[in-house]
Amino acid sequence: MKLAVAGGTGTVGVHVVEVAREGRHDVVVLSRSAGVDLVSGTGLADAMAGVDAVIDVASTRTMSAKESTAFFSAVTRNLLAAENEAGVRHHVALSIVGIDKAPHAYYAGKVKQESIIRTGTVPWTILRATQFHEFAAQIRERTSFGPVSIIPRMVSQPIAAREVAERLVDLAEKSPAGRVTDLGGPREERMAEMVRQYSRAIDAPGLVLELPIPGTYGRAMRDGTLVTTTDSDHGRQTFDQWLAAGAH
Ligand SMILES: NC(=O)c1ccc[n+]([C@@H]2O[C@H](COP(=O)([O-])OP(=O)(O)OC[C@H]3O[C@@H](n4cnc5c(N)ncnc54)[C@H](OP(=O)(O)O)[C@@H]3O)[C@@H](O)[C@H]2O)c1
Repeated sequence: MKLAVAGGTGTVGVHVVEVAREGRHDVVVLSRSAGVDLVSGTGLADAMAGVDAVIDVASTRTMSAKESTAFFSAVTRNLLAAENEAGVRHHVALSIVGIDKAPHAYYAGKVKQESIIRTGTVPWTILRATQFHEFAAQIRERTSFGPVSIIPRMVSQPIAAREVAERLVDLAEKSPAGRVTDLGGPREERMAEMVRQYSRAIDAPGLVLELPIPGTYGRAMRDGTLVTTTDSDHGRQTFDQWLAAGAH
């Protein structure tokens, strides 16, 4: 198959490209560094020629609901229009567990993305996954002041990005399936403890303080809204195994 990977240079995108190439698929990467801007649409039509399925793992780092919604709306509409034009018959997108229950600015864009896909004309598959193992480092980077990190009280269920990539490629190889079973990590973890483990692994211990975030989103972080339910699928590699493997 010829697969296009939107965001194929990102955290999970590099794994999607690797897994797809290991599966002997012909892969085209859609990202700015590969000459395709998914927001403006520049370079998209040419890149879509001959593609059988698109896996969308593009993202923005914004924490603004307005910017997130604008990004995911533009990217999804541009991708679907180019897919329609090129005769692509399968759009696979990665979403996040709990987005419709937790009012987070970034999630507003993900809810919009799912809605555009569901009402579009390209047959689709949406997989929701929990946070990647890399999330602990990302949250630490955003909330550290010198050697002190202030981490929200959060129950997470981190998963290896490689395992999410394996599921996405498997889904792309099959027929469009709509919203499929959620995928979470093998066990629940406390975000502050993950940050402590990560800090030790990179030899930068510091002080990690855990704070409950007020409001509905803060409660969702604490009460398990962002982890999977019992009828979900689960990955194999735990956070400490991932750290020990040196993948960070
Ligand atoms: N992070 C998590 O824990 C997590 C968990 C579950 C689901 N997800 C979902 O997984 C997806 C991927 O997340 P990620 O963390 O892997 O993202 P990421 O590391 O931030 O990578 C973003 C990708 O999007 C590309 N991109 C950004 N703006 C673009 C533009 N204007 N045109 C073309 N490409 C653009 C980037 O490439 P260039 O910079 O080269 O353009 C990069 O390849 C997202 O949909 C996210 O919601 C994430």
